[in-house]
Amino acid sequence: MSLIQIADDQNTDTSIVRLVGKGEDPLIPLFAYLISNSETHRFFLQVATANRNLSRFSPNPFDSISLNQMLSLVENRGYSRDAIVANITYYEAKIEAIINKEGRPETPFIRPTTGAINELASTEEIINCLELPQGQDSDFRIGKLARSGESEVAINADGRILNHHILIAGSTGSGKSHLLSNLAHAAAAMGRAIILFDHKPDHQNHHEPNPDAQFSQAFSLDTRDPNEHSVHYYTLDADDPNTRSDILDVRAQDLNPEILAGTIFYKPNEDNQAEYFAHIATHFASYCADRDENWTIRDLTSYIRDNSNAALSNFLYGSSGTTLHKGTMDALQRRMDMPGRIPLFIDSHPPSNALGGRRGTTNIGQVFRPGLNVIRISEGNARGYALFLSNLLQSAAAIRSNAIQPGANVSNVPDLEILIDEASDIFKADSRYLRDAATGMLAEQIRKGRSLHIGYVIAVQSAGDVPENIRNNLNTTIIGRHRNMSVLREALPTVKPAMLEQADKLNPGEMFVDMFGVRSLLLVQMDLSRSRLTVAE
Ligand SMILES: Nc1ncnc2c1ncn2[C@@H]1O[C@H](COP(=O)(O)OP(=O)(O)O)[C@@H](O)[C@H]1O
Ligand SMILES: [Mg+2]
Repeated sequence: MSLIQIADDQNTDTSIVRLVGKGEDPLIPLFAYLISNSETHRFFLQVATANRNLSRFSPNPFDSISLNQMLSLVENRGYSRDAIVANITYYEAKIEAIINKEGRPETPFIRPTTGAINELASTEEIINCLELPQGQDSDFRIGKLARSGESEVAINADGRILNHHILIAGSTGSGKSHLLSNLAHAAAAMGRAIILFDHKPDHQNHHEPNPDAQFSQAFSLDTRDPNEHSVHYYTLDADDPNTRSDILDVRAQDLNPEILAGTIFYKPNEDNQAEYFAHIATHFASYCADRDENWTIRDLTSYIRDNSNAALSNFLYGSSGTTLHKGTMDALQRRMDMPGRIPLFIDSHPPSNALGGRRGTTNIGQVFRPGLNVIRISEGNARGYALFLSNLLQSAAAIRSNAIQPGANVSNVPDLEILIDEASDIFKADSRYLRDAATGMLAEQIRKGRSLHIGYVIAVQSAGDVPENIRNNLNTTIIGRHRNMSVLREALPTVKPAMLEQADKLNPGEMFVDMFGVRSLLLVQMDLSRSRLTVAE
């Protein structure tokens, strides 16, 4: 079942070779990998167009002269003319690499030549030529190459890929949550602490195996044994239906004042109020810090209510003569007291209130233990997503910065993996003020994450939802079935036209992967989640 390289014509793209095979041979699928052998060189190729079936009477692009040339080439390789004269299969394949004397792939500065014989690449040849990350066993596996011919080629995550961050984009139902789960399993196998933000909820059943999965495996609810991959559930909601979850205690004094302000004054015309509030909150926080006093959101709102504009102006600006605008301050006070403005999870659980004793409350430092830590943020708290996230990411960075100080006991602090499902809610805030503060915060944390060994995975429905300053730092791009093609072209500059054409036809779990450090774009059949995902009732 070999393909034979035929002559170029003057229009041939030089990254492409033209191949023909016998009409009666089994067809070779688009994206399959080939090894091209000639007397002098070996090349690694990928099929770039689906088979075209040519007969002697085919019109352009094959005039009768080149068709005759093909026929004689094929004949020279031992096929009888009669067998193939009626039907020839034609392919184009992209040259990915030349294989050097040591068997390593290199950038090809020459092309394979007419008459070279092409065979399907073996599993070893594919792994070697693509330079795919290799796991010890199947623990780091997230899927396998789709349409790699006969060979099964596992696709694994590794620490380097996680630390260089991942973007997953695909419309609803494309398989993002299943993939996030398996990335969590891989990260757990590497000993990381994983923090998974669950918005839907999709991730409340990871303590059960997924019976449909090929590599079925549950996380354990027992968090005492560090060798078990354990799962722990947290929530921001006092009435979360998952009785296993601990309620997270979020203190206003730990929050970023700008994002707090943008969350309370979230409507497009409230930017001035947000700015004032951030300003006053920052001042109030340092006033309390100087006195070593803790404070709550209620202390801050009373402070604003109890002081006149003149007094507040004086605290903020001294005797410079600058004053707070009365209309803005009036609106600020009115809105600050409106129900639903301040997210309910802020300072909502004083230790004296045991919430019926049903569940414990816990602080944010707890979520950095090894294994999977799922944090549920309900739709009702969607506006607080960015606010809570900024709090958590700052804590994460602080913990990892301490861990990498010279002399620190690093063994106590695992590498972190932060998985943000349905992340667009962060980037789509109505107010420009909140959007800028939240995306600026996230971009900065992601940039810092690489050296701190905090890996980020950002999952969204369209690659275009992610602002460029964030997208630029996500070095692996994974695309499932996707609606907006022009956005996709932008997000995946290495994409080939044939692949782009396929992106809206992908099945659930089929994804294009532009993996950090890996030659060539991959089409991957992702595995079903090892543990069970939550199905909506
Ligand atoms: N790797 C996969 N292989 C086969 N089917 C899958 C795969 N991943 C997901 N699916 C199917 O697609 C559905 C949606 O998957 P999900 O991960 O929830 O998508 P998303 O999070 O993108 O909305 C699942 O219920 C499952 O039936
Ligand atoms: Mg999902």
